[in-house]
Amino acid sequence: MEISLEHLTKKFGNVYAVKDLNLHIRDGEFIALLGPSGCGKTTTMLMIAGIYKPTKGFIKFDGKVINNLEPRDRNIGMVFQSYALYPHMTVYENITFPLKLKKVPKAEMEKECKNIARLLQIDHLLNRKPGELSGGQQQRVALGRALIKKPKVLLFDEPLSNLDARLRISMRRFIKEIQREFGITSIYVTHDQEEAMTMADRVAVMKDGVLQAFTTADKLHDEPENIFIAHFIGNPPMNLIDAELIEEKGKLYLSISRNIRMRVPEKRRPKVFKKKVKFGIRPYDVEIIERGRIPAKVLFVEFFGKELLVLCKVGDKEIQVLVPAKLDVKEGDNLFIEFKESGFHFFDPDTGVSLCKG
Ligand SMILES: Nc1ncnc2c1ncn2[C@@H]1O[C@H](COP(=O)(O)OP(=O)(O)OP(=O)(O)O)[C@@H](O)[C@H]1O
Ligand SMILES: [Mg+2]
Repeated sequence: MEISLEHLTKKFGNVYAVKDLNLHIRDGEFIALLGPSGCGKTTTMLMIAGIYKPTKGFIKFDGKVINNLEPRDRNIGMVFQSYALYPHMTVYENITFPLKLKKVPKAEMEKECKNIARLLQIDHLLNRKPGELSGGQQQRVALGRALIKKPKVLLFDEPLSNLDARLRISMRRFIKEIQREFGITSIYVTHDQEEAMTMADRVAVMKDGVLQAFTTADKLHDEPENIFIAHFIGNPPMNLIDAELIEEKGKLYLSISRNIRMRVPEKRRPKVFKKKVKFGIRPYDVEIIERGRIPAKVLFVEFFGKELLVLCKVGDKEIQVLVPAKLDVKEGDNLFIEFKESGFHFFDPDTGVSLCKG
């Protein structure tokens, strides 16, 4: 099923929860809806599910406007953060509930349930009640209940946020496998960028109800369209520094502080020239070297996973650098840094828009 959202808008009172959202999701595609709390993710999902009526705009399934279609007629499976299983029913009764509503014959219901339960590896739990299951098992029951209808669309709203890290990783893989196997168009809401980046074919990033970008994880990371995305995607976040561009004899230089100046690599030249810019460089695109042209003083060193995050003073600016833990750096050290050529990003300081995009 192809899903198009066109100028989709939801207002609560005077507040835009979702504003003029345009998204085209391909048949069988898995997209993630990513953004900070309150950015309009759940509201978008509830409009697609038919639980909220849009204030404006259209929702199309395979090109047909479905704004007025009842939720139960939309052929959607939903898995939300709270699994909302019926506590007094067994796993079997929970999973087959949607079929019971449709008055599917018992034998067929049993067969379908067995199939799904085997796939989800919960076939040994069918007689238990939800209260007798672990979080991950309950999650799979909820998934089974969503899948048994063979929906054309799957909506996930932070379905894994209650699980521990290890279970979360195995469930991610599992959801992806099921989604691929059934080829169901899926929208997966999360505020965990790693989850979005690893699972989705494309990621839609929202902020304050407004879509910021809709593209692949790689492109979001490598070519962020604006400062919000640059800062939001990637961990630790990108350094964003007030800087100046200077053009001299056809060559372009970047000045990040008085007396600290460097050539802008030809292939990272901004498409639009501006004197005042926000210069962006990711902590892992900065290197600490023995001798170089950019002197830096170490202000602070902390462990960051298997690496060290080093806060450096460079002129009057501060820059975070991610280095291998075996490197011997400590507070107060005077050293030099260097920026990897591919890591240069430039943004318009007023609008926040990337200057590197054509
Ligand atoms: N029923 C409602 N009435 C009034 N305002 C609402 C309602 N539901 C959501 N909002 C507001 O709309 C905005 C978007 O909310 P939404 O629940 O879609 O955010 P979200 O991206 O899902 O956030 P989270 O990550 O915290 O779940 C928020 O500012 C929220 O306060
Ligand atoms: Mg939400």
